[in-house]
Amino acid sequence: MKEALRIADLFREEQRLVGQTIRVQGWVRTRRDSKAGISFIEVNDGSCLKNLQVIVELARPELVETLRSVTTGAGIQVEGVLQASPGKGQSVEMHAASIRLFGGADPATYPLQKKRHSFEFLRQIGHLRPRTNTLGAVARVRSRLSFAVHQFFQERGFFYLHTPIITSSDCEGAGEVFRVTTPPSRDDVAAPEAGDANVPDFFGKPAYLTVSGQLQAEIYALALGRVYTFGPTFRAENSNTSRHLAEFWMVEPEMAFCDLQEDLEVAQALIKNLLQVVLTDCNEDLEFFSRFIEPGLRENLERTLQTPFETVTYTEAVEQLKKAGETFAFPVKWGMDLQAEHERFLTEKIFEKPVALVHFPRHLKPFYMRVNDDEKTVAAMDILVPGIGEIIGGSQREERLDMLLQQMELKGISTEDYRWYVELREFGSVPHAGFGLGLERLIQFATGLPNIREVIPFPRTPGHAYF
Ligand code: 4AD
Ligand code: MG
Repeated sequence: MKEALRIADLFREEQRLVGQTIRVQGWVRTRRDSKAGISFIEVNDGSCLKNLQVIVELARPELVETLRSVTTGAGIQVEGVLQASPGKGQSVEMHAASIRLFGGADPATYPLQKKRHSFEFLRQIGHLRPRTNTLGAVARVRSRLSFAVHQFFQERGFFYLHTPIITSSDCEGAGEVFRVTTPPSRDDVAAPEAGDANVPDFFGKPAYLTVSGQLQAEIYALALGRVYTFGPTFRAENSNTSRHLAEFWMVEPEMAFCDLQEDLEVAQALIKNLLQVVLTDCNEDLEFFSRFIEPGLRENLERTLQTPFETVTYTEAVEQLKKAGETFAFPVKWGMDLQAEHERFLTEKIFEKPVALVHFPRHLKPFYMRVNDDEKTVAAMDILVPGIGEIIGGSQREERLDMLLQQMELKGISTEDYRWYVELREFGSVPHAGFGLGLERLIQFATGLPNIREVIPFPRTPGHAYF
């Protein structure tokens, strides 16, 4: 098949291409037949938001025959001359010399007709929704951001580490793990006793889908200095909210010879770098989100880039929330786990910018966080952003053997199971720190999309694992 021009490239070079015969391949967004004997086809190939307008003269019988099946959703190829467009809304258009139909789409049954569909409806047609403006734009931004994550770390001397997906440790200790069950053979799956406790575990002990690559990243940070993992993570938390998924992607740097302060600086630099990439490289899609999803989005992102994040201790934040005179569903008091309503109030109402909350009560956080001198708090950080709440969670890690053992004892973590983790404190232990950035929450922030289900191609939530 002769190579077609991507529509994004066509628009980029439209000045040079005017007058030339070109070929494009894509899907029909709409077709409109004018009384003047002309048909207008809007073709989109997913390479960019904009459609290419194709003009077909109905006086040509060989085209008219094909045109009958060129309806919304059809996959086609068109060849013709690119010309300056006299019409509104586009600077160039193609005058079709030939059209090839690959596959039609019956207008009576094709679900994506030219009207606004609700996001709920689009989720039910996950196989077709990337052909909409919004989901197409999200997919492009997500791809660019993922690449930018690698660029950011690679340019700063971090090594990309593949941490395991199947693991026997529960990093966050919250018990929100998906158990990996593996009967020894296929036959056993069908057998009534498949769930039998006597069937030996494939791994010889219970194994889970990872909730975080952090503990394994620590191993490599304590050998290679600076590493990052970037992969899928899984949580069986039964929360049906607009910012939780059962399967999501996390970016987790881990740095040796690093304290909480530097950890914070890297986190802030990463967020700003990623937003900058969206502003410079995803212009057209960002414009779309600013117009149709969140008015003022571009300005918000630009402002975020220019503002230093606020750093506040948990204790100060609790004081501020108490003083705010706001009635929360969960009244605020020191020692409580801050809820989404509190996080949002801090970042949206009190500080009106991203906030790094630091030094949380020790009992609220996992065993690996470094205990502060007050012995009541740990060197933790959560970064909150307006509209979303928590986007990053991280900490300095406990590098002192005696303190780590004390923490494990307190939290009921078996030193037997985590022997290797303890040994990292026995052999060449050094201060180190890291954090986890939820990719989907970052994309929500960058696109203004209110529901996390729209920023991942195939969302997994309680009751939903379709596709
Ligand atoms: O705060 P969390 O639980 O931190 C950790 O897992 C650490 N071990 C990370 C580290 O220090 N290396 O999760 C980190 C981030 C959250 O701030 C949030 O952005 C995202 O991961 N996240 C989720 N995103 C979508 N759905 C969920 N269920 C999420 N749970 C956490
Ligand atoms: Mg967290």
